This record gives sequence, structure tokens and C-alpha cells, in this order.
Amino acid sequence: MKEQLEAIQEEALEKVSLVDSPKELQEIRVTYLGKKGSLTKVLKGMGKLSKEERPVIGQIANQVRDTITGALDEKAEKLERAALEQKLEEESIDVTLPGRPVRVGGPHLLTDIVEEIEDLFIGMGYEVKEGPEVETDYFNFEALNLPKNHPARDMQDTFYITNELLLRTHTSPVQARTMQEYKGEKPVKMICPGKVYRRDTDDATHSHQFTQIEGLYVDKNVRMSDLKGTLDKFAKKMFGEEREIRLRPSFFPFTEPSVEMDISCKVCHGEGCSVCKGTGWIEILGGGMVHPKVLEMAGYDPTVYSGFAFGMGPERIAMLKYGVNDIRGFYTNDVRFLKQYHKA
Ligand code: PHE
Repeated sequence: MKEQLEAIQEEALEKVSLVDSPKELQEIRVTYLGKKGSLTKVLKGMGKLSKEERPVIGQIANQVRDTITGALDEKAEKLERAALEQKLEEESIDVTLPGRPVRVGGPHLLTDIVEEIEDLFIGMGYEVKEGPEVETDYFNFEALNLPKNHPARDMQDTFYITNELLLRTHTSPVQARTMQEYKGEKPVKMICPGKVYRRDTDDATHSHQFTQIEGLYVDKNVRMSDLKGTLDKFAKKMFGEEREIRLRPSFFPFTEPSVEMDISCKVCHGEGCSVCKGTGWIEILGGGMVHPKVLEMAGYDPTVYSGFAFGMGPERIAMLKYGVNDIRGFYTNDVRFLKQYHKA
């Protein structure tokens, strides 16, 4: 029996030394030490031994089991370590390799311009408002002193959805909405950027959809000189301190008097050149003093309150500021166009 045990030990150790996977190792463990394993079988036969032999053989059997167990454990640990090392090696990265360039996007040129204008007016105490693009005929026209069949509605060819619903042709309805919200009780100082729609045929200077920024200031004693001062500040901040503005008489049904604002041409400084078509001035926006009827309809007493309003097109501002000569560049999303204007 002793020889048998020694043979088992020798065989098991030999096998352990040869395997190189945890699975095979487990198989060996079962073959020798498992319930039906060869060592277990031998031990089961110990009952037949004499009283004297039993403790001797028992001791040897225990030793054999401990030796095999020890060898199995040691090998298991070795295999585990080797596997870990291999994994670490496979996953190691070469930090000296140059990285793949990551292309970073940026805000659209129009977004940048709108934000720049917003910041400028926020700095002058204005709040930023929004209004719906699908607007009622009432807010887009009637509340702005443009009753049904008013000829000036033709100035803005309109996409109608129903008789009463349309795509707003300008951001001016937000003037009326904000004044109504404030119930004629407190001053209004807001700007409103947003998309507007007109039935235009798209070309280099026209688009059926474009953006506007509306401005409205209503308070006691607001005067035309306030409008002029505000627009002058805006023009100088936006285009450069050396730029001059001029106001020309114009017409809008919702302002009286109405003006159109020009800035001096940056190329010829008023002399006249091809950029300003020989006039020395470039048209930028429309505005005026809020018509008393518009104030009244929105709940403001025109004998107490007065105000000014203006509306400008960020596309036009961006085109002048950066020399963009086709408005379609803003909407076709050609990255070659857009990335020229990404701020670093
Ligand atoms: N809503 C006018 C337009 O789209 C611009 C404007 C706004 C004029 C506010 C006067 C006052 O042409």
C-alpha cells in the first residue's frame, strides 16, 4: 500500500508539472483527490489493514495528500500570475505614439453673432425674450398696427398656415407679447432673437427663412435720442469705435417716427466706394419710436409711457462684419465655410 501511495504521488506531481492551464489543473485535482479519485480509493481500502499498519499508512496517505494539494496550489498560483502578466502586456499602451487628432466643432457663425449681440444688450440692462415661430395674425400684424388688408402687409410676404395662423415674418410680435405680459404696469427692456419666415425666392441676399433680433425699450420719458445713443453704442461695439451711424426717415406701421439706420462704410469711411455702392453708408437695421396705438393695444398708456423699438438681421450683420457675400452660406452647413469663422 505504501508503494501504491508513493506511485500516486509521483504520478500526480509529474502531471502537475506538465500542465499549463487552470482547467487541466482542476482535472488533475479531481483525478487524484476527488470523491472517486485514486488517492481516495486507496484510503477507502485502509479498513482491511491491521491495527499496527493503519496509523503508519494513514500518516503516509496524509503526507501524500498534502504534497499533491501543495503542488496543485502552487501551480495554480503560478498560472494565475502568468495569465495576469500576459494580460498586462497585451493591454499596455505606447504613450510615445502621437495621438489621433480630435476634430472639435464650434458654434455656428450665426450663433456667435447672436450671442455677441445678446451680451452687448444684456450689458445695457436688457433681458432676452423668446416668442413662437408659428404666430397668430393678431400678434404678427394687428397688434402692430397692421389691420387686415393694410397695404404695408405686402412689405412682408407671408407663409399662412390658416387665416389666423402664420409663420412670423418678423420678431416684432414679441414686442406686443412682452408688453401684454407686463400688463402696462412696468417698464420693458428686452431683446428677442429668433427665426423668421418670408415668401422670398432664395438668392445671394434673400432667404425664405432668416433670423432677426428685436429690441424694445418702453418706459416713462424714452426719447428718440435714447434710440440714437443705444444704436450708436451698438454699432461702435459691433463694428469698431471709428464707425459713425446715421438715421434716415423711413416707414413702419408700428413705429412713428420710423428710421432706417446706416453705418459709415469701413472701406471708404464715408467717401463712397464699391462696397457701399458709392454712398459711403451701409444700411443695417430699422427702428423707431413705438407707435402710440401699439402701446395702447398692449395696455400701455401712451400719454405716460413712450418707447423705441428696432429690428436687425444677424445674417446681414455677420455678412458685413466678416465679408460674407452669400447668405446661403449660413444655411447650407458646408463645414469648409463654417470653420473659417470658428473662434479659437
Ligand atoms: N420688423 C421690422 C422688419 O422686419 C423691423 C423693425 C422692428 C422696425 C422694430 C421698427 C421697429 O422689417
